[in-house]
Amino acid sequence: MDRGEYSNHLEETIKLVNERLAKFRAKYNDDNAPYQQSCPDAMWYSLSAGGKRIRPVLLMEFCRIFGGSAEKALDSACAIEMIHTFSLIHDDLPCMDDDDYRRGKPSCHKQFGEAQALLAGDALECLAFEIIAADENVSFEQRVKLIQELSREVGVCGMIGGQIIDTCCTDEYSDERLLKMYALKTSALIEAACVMGCICAEAYDKIPFAREYACALGLAFQITDDILDITLTSEVLGKPIGSDADLGKQTYAAVHGVEAAAKKAEELTQAALDIAESFPDNEFIVYLTNDLLGRKF
Ligand code: IPE
Ligand code: IPE
Ligand code: MG
Ligand code: MG
Ligand code: MG
Repeated sequence: MDRGEYSNHLEETIKLVNERLAKFRAKYNDDNAPYQQSCPDAMWYSLSAGGKRIRPVLLMEFCRIFGGSAEKALDSACAIEMIHTFSLIHDDLPCMDDDDYRRGKPSCHKQFGEAQALLAGDALECLAFEIIAADENVSFEQRVKLIQELSREVGVCGMIGGQIIDTCCTDEYSDERLLKMYALKTSALIEAACVMGCICAEAYDKIPFAREYACALGLAFQITDDILDITLTSEVLGKPIGSDADLGKQTYAAVHGVEAAAKKAEELTQAALDIAESFPDNEFIVYLTNDLLGRKF
């Protein structure tokens, strides 16, 4: 696979996910009474605002390399993007990071108000699980496993747990605490994506390797996010820069400096690549893993 083929495959996968999301939007609109319309509008505003779609892409790719069809993975891919978007809507709220821009547009609460943004996040979370429960392309057993994996990685021992640590005031800094917070707030959903791909393909013996890859990639991804918060402009990033510093947040890049943080992200990316070496048909994952380290948005 050369870079052109990689880009095409990435674009094609994102297109499939976006088309399926649009289908859910149409269905969801039909299903809902007109009085509640403001909430679906806020949900789809944030969901369709863009974003790199790396979690659904990883889910689709893990399913593909382990022998599952795209159809088996597509609904789960939409579900995980809904969960991620819910996490971003809530992350931007005044009680959390208080950020006014997201994905190049006003944040959900800036556009629709805090109450609607809160509810839109809640509704996206529920819809994700509803979609998996109703996914006729996978067996009942797979649906239960998918829901179990996703709910665990979203909850107190997953993304939400990381956000709890992130927002708990404490003066005590340690690398251990920071990396635990990153493992939960960011790696957990990336892990869910990779593991759910394995479940969609019924490749249960591959799950431990998927977890190991995702944990390393997730940490590299969050450290890179912290670096970009310091080094980029908000126009390029599509969200405010300096957000972490404004909140007095300690990040790996703020504590150790951008150069040391970049080195750490590189080491973690290499650790992820070492595991990806053992995956079949792994060229796309290798390109993607490297590109996420060098990303500029
Ligand atoms: C942002 O995630 C939140 C983090 C975990 C760093 P992404 O960088 O994947 O955001 P989008 O989906 O591209 O907007
Ligand atoms: C977000 O971390 C992790 C989430 C669970 C949303 P950040 O707060 O650093 O993400 P951005 O920079 O706002 O996207
Ligand atoms: Mg945050
Ligand atoms: Mg934030
Ligand atoms: Mg950030």
